Amino acid sequence: MSVRDVVAIGDPVLRQPARELSREELGSPQIQRLIDDLIETKRATHGAGIAANQVGEALRVAIVEVEEGNPRYPYKPAVPLTVIVNPVIEPLDGGTVEINEGCLSVPDLRGTLPRHLAIRIRYLDRFGEERDEVKRGLTAGTFQHEVDHLDGVLFVDRADPRTFATWEQFERYQRDDFLRRVSGLVDQVGS
Ligand code: NI
Repeated sequence: MSVRDVVAIGDPVLRQPARELSREELGSPQIQRLIDDLIETKRATHGAGIAANQVGEALRVAIVEVEEGNPRYPYKPAVPLTVIVNPVIEPLDGGTVEINEGCLSVPDLRGTLPRHLAIRIRYLDRFGEERDEVKRGLTAGTFQHEVDHLDGVLFVDRADPRTFATWEQFERYQRDDFLRRVSGLVDQVGS
């Protein structure tokens, strides 16, 4: 396992729709190593998730994991390590909520954008088992962010540019309002 370099906005691989993996590929040592590298890279950089595009591989694999008290997103509910392969998201009823996001591939920028409040996500786990789950609240937003990466979409594409802020200015001017607005979601269980 190794920590990989995370590519930054401007690298074409972030705009490349990632391709699906066959079950055979998923079971290969190369892809299992990629998954281990993604987990290690996510943990080393304190992300809430990471997609394969972000380490230069346009393959439909992403990780979501939020530790209790994550330093980048201390307000996010904890999410156990989840490896999603070939994920497909279907929005459920419940509308959208404005969420403030950042991204390991967009250094020192945050922005506010609408996310579905509830989604159904179908995917393969790293062992090729089919999963079918419902995610809600901020956790639903995290999964939408990672699947966006696999479609070549970044949060800046969906955000109102007038909401853009550095992490320092987010803390200073936007954090309290944001947390007040989503406080009900923070309490909500992740799945
Ligand atoms: Ni991201």
